[in-house]
Amino acid sequence: MLFDHELAWINEKIYNEIYKNSISNTADFWEYHIQSISWHKTPYDIFDHKTKSWLSGGVANVCYNCVDRHAEQTPNKPAIVWHGDEKGVRREISYKELQRKIVEISSLLLSKGIKKGDVVGIHMPMTPDAVASMLACARIGAIHLVVFAGFSANSLAYRLEMSNAKVLITSAETRRGGKPIKIKENCQEAIAIMTNKPELIVIDEVNLFNNLKLNEHLELCTDKDDLFVLYTSGSSGKPKGIIHSSLQYILYAATTFKFVFNIDPHDIYFCTSDIGWITGHSYITYAPLFHGLTIVMFEGTPIYPTADRYWEIIERERVSVFYTAPTALRSLQTFDENFVKKHDLSSLKVLGSVGEPINKKAWEWYFNVVGNRHCPIVDTWWQTETGGIVLAPLLDINNQKPCIAGKPFFGIKTDIVNTDSKRVTQPMEEGRLIIENNWPGMCRSVLYECEYSQKSTSKNQTCKNIFLNQYFEDNKFITGDGALYDEDFDIKIIGRLDDVINISGHRLSTIEIEEAIYKVNTVKDCAVVAIDHKIKGQTPFAFVVKNLVDECEDELKKSIIESIRKYIGPIAKPDYIVFVEDLPKTRSGKIVRQLLREIVMNREYDITTISSVHNKEILLSIVQTVSDISVN
Ligand code: PRX
Repeated sequence: MLFDHELAWINEKIYNEIYKNSISNTADFWEYHIQSISWHKTPYDIFDHKTKSWLSGGVANVCYNCVDRHAEQTPNKPAIVWHGDEKGVRREISYKELQRKIVEISSLLLSKGIKKGDVVGIHMPMTPDAVASMLACARIGAIHLVVFAGFSANSLAYRLEMSNAKVLITSAETRRGGKPIKIKENCQEAIAIMTNKPELIVIDEVNLFNNLKLNEHLELCTDKDDLFVLYTSGSSGKPKGIIHSSLQYILYAATTFKFVFNIDPHDIYFCTSDIGWITGHSYITYAPLFHGLTIVMFEGTPIYPTADRYWEIIERERVSVFYTAPTALRSLQTFDENFVKKHDLSSLKVLGSVGEPINKKAWEWYFNVVGNRHCPIVDTWWQTETGGIVLAPLLDINNQKPCIAGKPFFGIKTDIVNTDSKRVTQPMEEGRLIIENNWPGMCRSVLYECEYSQKSTSKNQTCKNIFLNQYFEDNKFITGDGALYDEDFDIKIIGRLDDVINISGHRLSTIEIEEAIYKVNTVKDCAVVAIDHKIKGQTPFAFVVKNLVDECEDELKKSIIESIRKYIGPIAKPDYIVFVEDLPKTRSGKIVRQLLREIVMNREYDITTISSVHNKEILLSIVQTVSDISVN
């Protein structure tokens, strides 16, 4: 068996061999890889087919695996190199120092009565303190709930309330693009509107840790214990809390990381995501530290004060693996190439892309200009629900294919099915991407609105099951993405097939945006659709029907944008808001969003599904309205 293949480029032949074995002997594959975890008790069973549970009997601590064991072996190695918003502001934190920081925070949490299974909110900028706070929770078995710093107080309050958070950790202030961001005030505003108010901890407050008795307690976690909850958007108006396990999750995140990026312990790794998203969990905090790497964290924006912040940091730190999002590349590509060229990026060995489909122009610029044609690009496809990378191309510099996510990771069986749920067998035929088997990184359950409002355990269970069932059909995991095979049967992702919109790699739901628009009293009806955008990938386009025909449109637009900022955050702001007389609906009263989208995108559309004369008139007037708007 080839499962002991270690740290070397995996070519197609080796991939095929390991892949085949990993599918026929999935438990053996994972049994080999659990060896990378320092166990308190090794699992007695890798996968139980009946209960579909992984790693039964295993006992370990995720924080110990990510920090303590390295603090013992390589105490002075930098764990985190942090760059602030302003150029030249830089700090190094060794594994020993990181461990100390984590123990301080976990001692503080313990002193406040936080125990295993309690939820701790984290609303913080990209600082080492944020990573330390996540790991402090992992250390004592508390479940962290990181809420992206760009979300509004209302969004934060909703997430904290739904998951019953006992404590909320934040920082006094952060800076982005030279401007202060009042993150603490956002937390205070959120707490003010909550019923069950969490206690606020401001991590950089002077004297916070004075007189605190350090408590080195490390909670032993079993295969039943969870690590975190992270909210993401689906097809409903409410975000859902995805819950990940401790041991299974770390196994999957760490193993995918090692193979997909061909990691070796000397790598200097820089991921530009935010800890508020799943990429920031799996591939900033957990997997890289698990492998004892030095990670680079950046608090600022890539274009402040100049458009070379990423490149300057890569040169300064000798970064070898760089992982970013297509939206950042598309934006940086609009600047003079010299911003990249003036820096020595020869340390780079692998480039990664994540979060949204990468277009050819951005891919080529990444390959040619950033990677100087010597770094393979891994276009990694995955989701909050999957815990780690599911599809990635092989790291083969001689066989680079732009915009192809490539092949399933070991042990994962993907498929593409058409509308009749039949397997797609021909290249170029589009279908739904599904996963056919179990893998350790799959989320454990989903926190749902009724979880909080209906306290009884049995009801909670039912709600979770209902929600999880939405992902499964005949035991197959429905990803929500469309895909096709290329001529080599590598997978290309087309994009979401549901109401999820991907704005600059931020996953939101168009229904959520509609709900924020409906909060404006004078809105009678609205529909939000996702349209393509040159830099952001996608942007919301809102159709709005006014209650009062003569209401000032500019004023109403302002109120709509204000409401979206208030209930979600500035990232959800539509680029287009158009006022229409009415919206086209099916006989059962459903707005035909797909049709609206096609009209805006100027694609061919089929109006035969629209039966009534009234709807046809509505459509014609909408076609007329949008034809006056230039959409990029
Ligand atoms: O539509 C896919 C897109 O992002 C969605 C998952 O979003 P989220 O849970 O926030 O996780 C993002 C980070 C993994 C997917 O359903 N997506 C993610 N990666 C890619 C992608 N679309 C195309 N290509 C990718 N590499």
